[in-house]
Amino acid sequence: MEKFYHIVTYGCQMNVHESEKIAGILSGLGYVGCDRIEDADIVVFNTCCIRENAENHAFGNIGMLKKLKQSKKDMIIAVGGCLTQQMGRAEDLHEKFPYVDIIFGTHNLHSLGDLICRKLKSRKAVIEIEESEGAVCEDDKPLRTSYPNAWVNIMYGCNNFCSYCIVPYVRGRERSRRSENIIREVRSLVDEGYKEITLLGQNVNSYRDDMSFPELLAKIADTDAKFRLRFMTSHPKDFSRELVEVMASYPNICHCLHLPVQSGSNAVLAAMNRRYTVEQYLEKVEYLRSRIPDCAITTDLIVGFPGETDADFEATCDLVGKVGFASAFTFVYSKRTGTKAASMPGQVPEEVSKERIIRLVDLVNSQTRELSKGYVGRTIEILCEDYDKKRGMYLGRDEYGRMGYFASNKDLVGSFVKIKVEQANGVSLTGSIAE
Ligand code: 5AD
Ligand code: SF4
Repeated sequence: MEKFYHIVTYGCQMNVHESEKIAGILSGLGYVGCDRIEDADIVVFNTCCIRENAENHAFGNIGMLKKLKQSKKDMIIAVGGCLTQQMGRAEDLHEKFPYVDIIFGTHNLHSLGDLICRKLKSRKAVIEIEESEGAVCEDDKPLRTSYPNAWVNIMYGCNNFCSYCIVPYVRGRERSRRSENIIREVRSLVDEGYKEITLLGQNVNSYRDDMSFPELLAKIADTDAKFRLRFMTSHPKDFSRELVEVMASYPNICHCLHLPVQSGSNAVLAAMNRRYTVEQYLEKVEYLRSRIPDCAITTDLIVGFPGETDADFEATCDLVGKVGFASAFTFVYSKRTGTKAASMPGQVPEEVSKERIIRLVDLVNSQTRELSKGYVGRTIEILCEDYDKKRGMYLGRDEYGRMGYFASNKDLVGSFVKIKVEQANGVSLTGSIAE
């Protein structure tokens, strides 16, 4: 009889890709994916702990499975991801949710198959959290679910220890994959027909093997095959002119860069341990724009970091105006136990952070809307990704990451389509296929 799995993913792109690896392991064991949790024989929660709300979300959903588990005793519930890797968290989870069968850490993902076998032989919960960083896995077999887009990890972990961030504690130190394996993986994805490859790492600029990141990017881009190449994330302190030159030299590297600035105040940046100043950031942006004038720059911003004054916040708003980000992820600072910032004085009251985030979101959205208006009447090339049933339209992105919708009688998923933009609706665009 067929057995089914269902995966619930929280957090970033890195986690979405990790869920594809989990799906690869489960399908290797003979399980088949299903849409409804109720139909699953195994449910895996791939959690995130970067901010408190992501954590609470996961806790809420795991809590809701108690009833289902009572009526479906053979269903296996597994919880993995960075929430479980935090010190003492696996024990907390086990105590709070004793019906969870398997708890595994970020470094134990590749043993999930063994953990499931152990659980099937035992009545007790199986808990496996490895403290050490684990080896770099080179032969993952992810079950990719996002054709025509594919993600490829080039490195794992982070050494930066930004004072607010839990990632270095739960993902371990930086370690890079072998360049030859990455290049081989990308080549075979392109041969299989994938049209957009995104290289993933917490800080791709500190990639190190027998070549640097710009060298790796150039090697991957150096082909006649038509596909788009993206990468994320770039730490501004390591974003180099050499990388800009590579971006400018190969037509298949998207003119789009995610460069998280976090704050527009030098005092806050220093307290965050970001190791660059606003001036240095702007200098890098200016150089990038001088070489690639059409480059879209996106960013991450945090409000309410401990000690952030009204003037610091105004400086962030000024910077947003100066750079003209194509879009930005905006976050309220979330205190993470174990990080340096958690014990800093001057924690900002919730009401103040709320006011600031509302203002910042408004500012970012109004800039994005203005940029969208500039698209009307232009013809852009979209990589068609999906069909939106509600709208009855196909959708995809241009090389700058802007979402565009259009109607077609033919299934165009996986094709590059030129559309003439007729309408700008906030962040997205609508148009029709250009003749
Ligand atoms: N609180 C709020 N935002 C955070 N980020 C990371 N840690 C925190 C935190 N404790 C944000 C940063 C980072 C993005 C992935 O998440 O902006 O760039
Ligand atoms: Fe966290 Fe900073 Fe590393 Fe990004 S660079 S993962 S924000 S510690």
